[in-house]
Amino acid sequence: MSKFESYAQLAEELRSLLAGERDFIANAANFSALVYHSLPDVNWAGFYFLKDGQLVLGPFQGKPACIRIPIGKGVCGTAAERRETVLVHNVHDFPGHIACDSASNAEIVVPLVTRNELLGVFDVDSPSLGRFDDEDAEGLNTLVDIFLESSEGR
Ligand code: SME
Repeated sequence: MSKFESYAQLAEELRSLLAGERDFIANAANFSALVYHSLPDVNWAGFYFLKDGQLVLGPFQGKPACIRIPIGKGVCGTAAERRETVLVHNVHDFPGHIACDSASNAEIVVPLVTRNELLGVFDVDSPSLGRFDDEDAEGLNTLVDIFLESSEGR
């Protein structure tokens, strides 16, 4: 199965998983579990939510992670500041990268933006250099959109 087809299948699984439930934290928790257990070769997947001008750790799968990230810092803070997906082939080349799990070598961060409001970011890490590409960016953005449309009440 191609990567494109895998993401299309994952999008369908996500729609079923979130159907009938609009609780933001519950859906975020199941979202991170689905992504972590479905995508090959990832060691961390989870949320940081914007609270009082900082990113604060939310539901995730993987090893315990740093709790607070200032906007503009690290890959997560950069994606939040730019409101753009940030794709990093080698985190050791990314100035200011915040190392939570020493196993991580590649990372992708998708901002959560709804009605022009930044809610936080969704972050996925991999131990493999160059693990994420534009197809992952597109696929993960589609999944994040489904999550945001399905959830409210943060
Ligand atoms: N590496 C991230 C920090 C979060 S962890 O990877 C879970 C960053 O540089 O923002």
